[in-house]
Amino acid sequence: MQNIKLDISRVYDFIGKEEIESLREETTLAQNTLYQGNGDGNDFLGWLQLPSAITDQQISEIEDAVSGLKEKTELLVVVGIGGSYLGARAVNDALANNFAHLKKDRKAPHMLFAGHNIGEDYMYEMLELLNDYNYSIVVISKSGTTTEPAIAFRILKDHLVEKVGKKEAGDRIIAVTDAGKGALRQLADEEGYWSFVIPDDVGGRFSVFTPVGLIPLAICGIDIRQLVKGAREMSQLCDPGMPFEENPAALYAATRNALYRSGKKIEILVNYHNKLHYVSEWWKQLYGESEGKEGKGIYPASVDNSTDLHSMGQYIQEGERILFETVLSVEQADNQLTVPKDEANLDQLNYLARKNIDHVNKMAELGTTLAHLDGGVPNIRISIPRLDAYYLGQLLYFFENACGVSGYMLGINPFNQPGVEAYKKNMFALLEKPGFEEETREIKSRL
Ligand code: PA5
Repeated sequence: MQNIKLDISRVYDFIGKEEIESLREETTLAQNTLYQGNGDGNDFLGWLQLPSAITDQQISEIEDAVSGLKEKTELLVVVGIGGSYLGARAVNDALANNFAHLKKDRKAPHMLFAGHNIGEDYMYEMLELLNDYNYSIVVISKSGTTTEPAIAFRILKDHLVEKVGKKEAGDRIIAVTDAGKGALRQLADEEGYWSFVIPDDVGGRFSVFTPVGLIPLAICGIDIRQLVKGAREMSQLCDPGMPFEENPAALYAATRNALYRSGKKIEILVNYHNKLHYVSEWWKQLYGESEGKEGKGIYPASVDNSTDLHSMGQYIQEGERILFETVLSVEQADNQLTVPKDEANLDQLNYLARKNIDHVNKMAELGTTLAHLDGGVPNIRISIPRLDAYYLGQLLYFFENACGVSGYMLGINPFNQPGVEAYKKNMFALLEKPGFEEETREIKSRL
């Protein structure tokens, strides 16, 4: 088996090799803080050893538990927001067929998402669709009181009960929540839903290898065994016992911090594979919520190329020089398709005749990288041998591990998210939620 590979050689024209080398000790200190559990947020480190802690027996239990549901489900609605949905979406979208939802011979349930927005039209149109399908629900919320998924779940639960009756609805709902507390735990226990536990010491954005990610993915036919196996392999490569120059998480954390200190404030995660769009969304939450604190942090952005070369390409090439790129490059396409030869050649494409489309994509990637380097954008490259569950497991764990190290290098607590409460307080005040009377009076005086 190969591994995903990190290439930082294309940052050396911007920050010398020695600048990264000079962060070796600082990086090791951050790794020690993480692994010895003596830094801020150390009650949320359950994810660190999770891949090796998950046993084959536990995975078998998950697979057995969901097999019945899998058979009677055409659509699986995953209800959750932020860390309670992005991991499953990232993996599912990366591995599912692009047109799975339209395929007549679809074998596994198709995954839909609710509770990640407050769109009335979105919810209405989803209910219209669900009238015509056999569907099941996985509702995921650690607290059980997050407004967006709570609204969506109320609506979906009522719809399912009306459609299939209370007993069958109970059999088609799985709850993933806290072991002992919270509204969803209480409801799951009262209604007798199948339920799985989000460990106390794993925060939402680090939860993809817990039932939060594994349950919906297993129902939709993703090979969770390979996903965890990949993460396990990567956890060994990221271990502090690995030398700095061979440790991908340490090198990535050191490189992005060196770039940040040189004035590169924005990191763009770039893909050339549209199925990776939600891996970028997951990554943005992971790094944005972990690092954006105390007036510090690299701003995580993303583009899907070559699509976004026709929209964001201009800015990246010539806009303010505060950017660096991290490119996700998938080495091998799963399928083969070549450019056809055309006698008339009106579009003048015959020079590409019989060349693979992926070859054109790779040249777009290389050409863009070189142009951006010329334009002052340093480039980190992560190559992924193939887009499958094993390598995705490696990739996601690599990013998690590097995020913990990088956060400690920035001098913040990577595992809390105090800033996300500010909007909630205002929203509850504006909605006149009981208990927020004082905030309601105050906010109304500002309107
Ligand atoms: O990473 C996080 O902590 C957040 O994104 C949460 O996962 C998100 O707000 C959902 O919270 P909950 O699972 O309590 O509904």
